[in-house]
Amino acid sequence: MDEEVLFSQTFNISGRDFANAGTVSVKIKRILKELGVRPEVVYRVSICCYEAEMNIIMYAMLAILDFTITNNEVIINIEDEGPGIADIERALQEGYSTATSEMREMGFGAGLGLPNIKKNSDEFKIESVIAKGTKLNFKIYLN
Ligand SMILES: Nc1ncnc2c1ncn2[C@@H]1O[C@H](COP(=O)(O)OP(=O)(O)OP(=O)(O)O)[C@@H](O)[C@H]1O
Ligand SMILES: [Mg+2]
Repeated sequence: MDEEVLFSQTFNISGRDFANAGTVSVKIKRILKELGVRPEVVYRVSICCYEAEMNIIMYAMLAILDFTITNNEVIINIEDEGPGIADIERALQEGYSTATSEMREMGFGAGLGLPNIKKNSDEFKIESVIAKGTKLNFKIYLN
């Protein structure tokens, strides 16, 4: 069956903006609930979006997050401008983190964000160019 877009929205995320930590993922969560998406799917999308959003705030300068929901799936594409990730395989390992002591004091830096996005999504892709930025694409199926 053809894929039909039900809703789509773009969000901007600013690096270092800890005051707005989590606001985009909360908005996405609200939209999914209003659309009547199953709680389990809402939960998984929220976790993935929150972790991705925090990584932008902690490590990148800015990013654009594209959120789309179709009749089949939730699609998130995030493109940031930032330092990029030198070793993606390493960044995907649980426990690997370059968080500063300041970030760790705020409770971040367990090195679990990217592994959790991978675990909670049905399709996951990450690409990065050093000194340019990182692209993260993930999908969560509705059924
Ligand atoms: N958008 C990004 N730009 C640059 N580096 C990133 C980005 N996202 C992740 N990283 C790098 O990958 C590492 C692992 O990310 P991950 O989200 O798994 O852990 P963390 O953010 O360090 O800790 P946690 O997510 O548990 O608070 C980060 O410490 C950072 O070095
Ligand atoms: Mg993280």
